[in-house]
Amino acid sequence: MAMAGQSQHLVLLIFSLVLLFQASNAHNITRLLAKHPSLSTFNQYLTLTHLALEINHRSTITVLALDNAAMSSLLAKSPSILTVKSLLSFHVLLDYFGAQKLHQLGNGTALVATMLQATGAAPGASGLVNITDFKGGKVGFGREDNGGNLDSFFVKSVEEIPYNISVIQISKALPSAVAEAPTPGPTDLNISDIMSAGGCKVFADTLLANPEAMRTYEDNVNGGMTVFCPVDGPFKAFLPKYQNLTASNKESFLEFFGVPVYQSMSMLKSNNGLMNTLASDGAGNFDFTVQNEGEDVTLKTGVNTVRITGTLLDEQPVAIYTIDEVLLPKELFKASSISSAPAPAPAPGPEEAADAPKGSKPKTKSKEAPAADADSPADSPDDDAAADDENAAMFVGADRFNAAVLSLLVFLLL
Ligand SMILES: *[C@@H]1O[C@H](CO)[C@@H](O)[C@H](O)[C@H]1NC(C)=O
Ligand SMILES: *[C@@H]1O[C@H](CO)[C@@H](O)[C@H](O)[C@H]1NC(C)=O
Ligand SMILES: *[C@@H]1O[C@H](CO)[C@@H](O)[C@H](O)[C@H]1NC(C)=O
Ligand SMILES: *[C@@H]1O[C@H](CO)[C@@H](O)[C@H](O)[C@H]1NC(C)=O
Ligand SMILES: *[C@@H]1O[C@H](CO)[C@@H](O)[C@H](O)[C@H]1NC(C)=O
Ligand SMILES: *[C@@H]1O[C@H](CO)[C@@H](O)[C@H](O)[C@H]1NC(C)=O
Repeated sequence: MAMAGQSQHLVLLIFSLVLLFQASNAHNITRLLAKHPSLSTFNQYLTLTHLALEINHRSTITVLALDNAAMSSLLAKSPSILTVKSLLSFHVLLDYFGAQKLHQLGNGTALVATMLQATGAAPGASGLVNITDFKGGKVGFGREDNGGNLDSFFVKSVEEIPYNISVIQISKALPSAVAEAPTPGPTDLNISDIMSAGGCKVFADTLLANPEAMRTYEDNVNGGMTVFCPVDGPFKAFLPKYQNLTASNKESFLEFFGVPVYQSMSMLKSNNGLMNTLASDGAGNFDFTVQNEGEDVTLKTGVNTVRITGTLLDEQPVAIYTIDEVLLPKELFKASSISSAPAPAPAPGPEEAADAPKGSKPKTKSKEAPAADADSPADSPDDDAAADDENAAMFVGADRFNAAVLSLLVFLLL
């Protein structure tokens, strides 16, 4: 009986030690902020911009959090997601400042580098934050080169894990030079240049020669878009058939290679189903189906099936992938007219027939697919997948460490 009691204690002790190690291994900014509903928009944007991952990978940092009201004024001008990322990375200080340290600055002031400075995106000293402890216990924050104007103030300490991460709330967003001067945002993205450089020059040139279709693509860059560009060999061979199309069919055909939502590779792998294209008209025309086949992601038009072979760009809000064949919309081509076309894919189910109107950024209706393969695809993996792998690796590391501690304890105690 005594033995049983003792081993129960031992199990409890080991269990709590394991929990302790697990908790102290790394911080999770998403979880830290989840306890504070007034900071929920800020938290949401840390995830959307992938800054949460970068924050979790660093220690000795301070996150200057903004409440939902301060976030809505930051978002009032509908900045692009890349601009929001620059703005928020200016709110991550590469040093630890708990509430106490803020009031014990040498000379009452400090200049601190930010994550924005670390990315090299900030020209000169514009990635530095000036913190100054004013009379009366007020602590001001501002951009270093803002003419001494420190008009955002310390509100309260939110979470402190010395000296790994401190989260403090400040009264309003710090004005950032990067936000005022345009960053190389998605509007400056030249998608035809990216496609040309990535082996889809013939398709890119064809698109440039069709101003209506090109404008449709450009109009969708900011709101999110995915482009599937056919590589030069197959598209060149297809050109005579393209030239045979009427003007309006040429436009629809070219717009068929774009989807008005951003889809990372991991989203494509887990979101099988019908997809509206830039050519979709709300009556169920010009759609195709995304389907995983083993390692591959395929697109099925009902006439032919093409395979994604590479990633040219995968960064919110735009992704561009190469495909090995020309997508043939069933509205313009008959399966029988293409001698080499494989058997048509089964028609989409009735529940998929209804579509959102064109231009409304429809959310892709998806059937839950089995989890995507863990192995990375042959083409360059996307950010998400890479980050997930990294996280997975961190957890494996943590488990090994816990196991080692556990065996050591068992060894010492028995
Ligand atoms: C701080 O982070 C280090 C490694 O990044 C970790 O070993 C340590 O346990 C953490 N401390 C706390 C209090 O979480
Ligand atoms: C962080 O916490 C969030 C919310 O609890 C969770 O969804 C996410 O997977 C966590 N990330 C890591 C790296 O543990
Ligand atoms: C305080 O200011 C003096 C003179 O400007 C400088 O020499 C000193 O390094 C500063 N101390 C700190 C801790 O920044
Ligand atoms: C920060 O700004 C204040 C107010 O303009 C100024 O007095 C102080 O010298 C600045 N601190 C540093 C370290 O530049
Ligand atoms: C992209 O570059 C091509 C030439 O490479 C040019 O013709 C086109 O106008 C550019 N598009 C944009 C949106 O700048
Ligand atoms: C183009 O259309 C003409 C007339 O319909 C047809 O004879 C010809 O075979 C077509 N060419 C191609 C490449 O499809």
